[in-house]
Amino acid sequence: MTAAAPGPRIDVLFTEEEIAARVAALAREIVADLRGDFLVVVILKGSFVFAADLIRALERLGASAQVDFITLSSYGAGTASAGAVRLTHDLVEDVAGRAILIVDDVLESGRTLAFARDTLRARGAASVRSCLLLDKPARRAVEIEADYVGFRIGSEFVVGYGLDLAHRYRGLPYIGVPRDGTAG
Ligand code: IMP
Ligand code: MG
Repeated sequence: MTAAAPGPRIDVLFTEEEIAARVAALAREIVADLRGDFLVVVILKGSFVFAADLIRALERLGASAQVDFITLSSYGAGTASAGAVRLTHDLVEDVAGRAILIVDDVLESGRTLAFARDTLRARGAASVRSCLLLDKPARRAVEIEADYVGFRIGSEFVVGYGLDLAHRYRGLPYIGVPRDGTAG
């Protein structure tokens, strides 16, 4: 297959190899801090690929975390946050008294992470830590930081490795920037 895929050009920001090395390093940081039993709360949809790699990296280091999923939505189909965070699918597990590790894709305004953290605390979680694949510190609107960050980037909109642009590109194995004017 020699023809290029249709759609915008995607400039690679982080390769598969760079992501894999960073995920392994994050897992080492996490196991150094979080001993014993903990629950990974994966914020869908954007972080499902990252979470799949991260929980296996944790398991390789001997940490056996439980996993549950919550779906939060702040974007519509575009590339700008709509502002309010909506919980569209809740956890199954009871988080009261548990050590929690939130796993999410991008820390941008901070609204999604703040909403998740506050929700888990309100439900009685014993501790809430967070691991974010990407951090866009220049875009912060709420004062919040992640405990573990894969890569700090600028304000550019990125796709791949679980991240979408209007529901496309989640399956790209690398993280890249779409370049044809369709994405801010
Ligand atoms: P926040 O609530 O503004 O921090 O936005 C975080 C959410 O926006 C993330 O969980 C992503 O779902 C989405 N998001 C932010 N930046 C990007 C991006 O560059 N590509 C894809 N999704 C993004
Ligand atoms: Mg997200």
